[in-house]
Amino acid sequence: MSRLRSAMQKGKRVVLDKTESALSAKPLRKRSKATVKQEPDAASTCHSFHDPTDIALFRTDILSWYDQGKRELPWRTVALTEPDINIRTYAVWVSEIMLQQTQVATVIDYYNKWMKRWPTVQDLAAATLEEVNQMWAGLGYYSRGKRLQEGAQKVVSELGGEMPRTVEALLKQLPGVGRYTAAAVGSIALGQVTGAVDGNVIRVLCRVRAIGADSTSPAVTEALWSTANTLVSQERPGDFNQAMMELGARVCTPKGPQCTQCPIQTLCHSYRKVSVKQEENSTKLLGKLNRVPGSLPDIEDCVTSGTCNLCPTEPWDSQLGVLNFPRKPGKKAPRVERTLTCVVDRAGGGDREYLLTQRPKKGLLAGMWEFPSLLMEGENSEMKQRRALCAGVGRMLGVQLDKGLLQYVGEVVHIFSHIHQTYVVYSLCLNVSGDGGKTQSTTRWLTRPSLQAAAVSTGVKKAHPDMTLQHDNATSHTARSVSDFLQDRNVSVLPCWIGG
Ligand code: ADE
Repeated sequence: MSRLRSAMQKGKRVVLDKTESALSAKPLRKRSKATVKQEPDAASTCHSFHDPTDIALFRTDILSWYDQGKRELPWRTVALTEPDINIRTYAVWVSEIMLQQTQVATVIDYYNKWMKRWPTVQDLAAATLEEVNQMWAGLGYYSRGKRLQEGAQKVVSELGGEMPRTVEALLKQLPGVGRYTAAAVGSIALGQVTGAVDGNVIRVLCRVRAIGADSTSPAVTEALWSTANTLVSQERPGDFNQAMMELGARVCTPKGPQCTQCPIQTLCHSYRKVSVKQEENSTKLLGKLNRVPGSLPDIEDCVTSGTCNLCPTEPWDSQLGVLNFPRKPGKKAPRVERTLTCVVDRAGGGDREYLLTQRPKKGLLAGMWEFPSLLMEGENSEMKQRRALCAGVGRMLGVQLDKGLLQYVGEVVHIFSHIHQTYVVYSLCLNVSGDGGKTQSTTRWLTRPSLQAAAVSTGVKKAHPDMTLQHDNATSHTARSVSDFLQDRNVSVLPCWIGG
């Protein structure tokens, strides 16, 4: 981290990178006796699968749906066609890490480029962090790339170049690989028989078995893994798991589920509940309060309802239908931060050059390059902001800077998963080609083309003049002024500093 940034942050670190362990199964916490709810009664089958006929039907229906219409994705092709187990495992591992927190459509291009550049784990082990960051630029959550590279180095230096061959070994030996990723890689690349529960699968299973308790709770997490393990096909575990993910991504979607297209509709308790409620309503409308023969039976009620830790705690909302499931606790409000940043340019040999500083090798956005930035603490007057920036940039360059040289450019707002970040942008134009003589290894002067190629994250490419600011959360007026400013100066990237 540049001295400038670290001096200003005073230990307040922005932690954006989520490791899988933070995202998936949390260890079971001890709860006080008073709050412990009864485990679901073994006799209650309503939240799981017990009937072998239902289990067999679930497998056949979802697998034939998958076989008929699955997306042809590069990592799926490798998993099915690559005969070398080491390359296959490596390829699926790369795909699963990229797919953590990133949409399939975005990943495809990155994945193809990555595999072309580093087709084996040995190739990746030989890459530098900067090359990895450069390749990763734009995918966000940069620690994922770093962990892949660290994992590859470990495989080469400690495991004789052999990728782990079991779910347990993947989990134990590869950094950044948690319960889900180990299960996904193990089943897809190695044919290991295990369920794999990611966000899509959580939604599918909560709906199918009417699990309405907090889907992040340990009880629900364990119940979902147990159900996934019960359901997974013994013969085609990788395809089965991908079919579950595919169903969640394309049919059983968060907001607009296509229940009529669903291959497992007949096994879905949520869908059944919706149908029963609809029938009850129409019966009432017709003035017939009693069920008519042939009407739908309601789903089996949970026999331990009231004490069951998988049942919803709130009543069924007819407006929501199957969207009653899953239930998540309310999101915490994002942290609000303001960061001062300074676009410093100077006359280079020919083109103008821009000053970039490198983040530390460890921690958030490790090794990425950014414009000199500093996190603001509390409200600061413009005078104070100018003074802080001049001091920081001056220290970096080994020169004294006058705060009158700074030009205020504007503000850009970027919403991260848990941070509401406002970048307060200044510019500083040095009319000299030298930088005072002192250039640290963590600072660089880059021309516009090399800036584009550098390992720079792109969350605030929103300020890119060619990008029309469509995907930006900035107030258009201030973002526009930043964009105009950059356009005037021919800068094409305003690094975002924090991956998105
Ligand atoms: N998400 C995570 N893994 C996936 C896979 N193998 N296919 C599609 N989406 C996924």
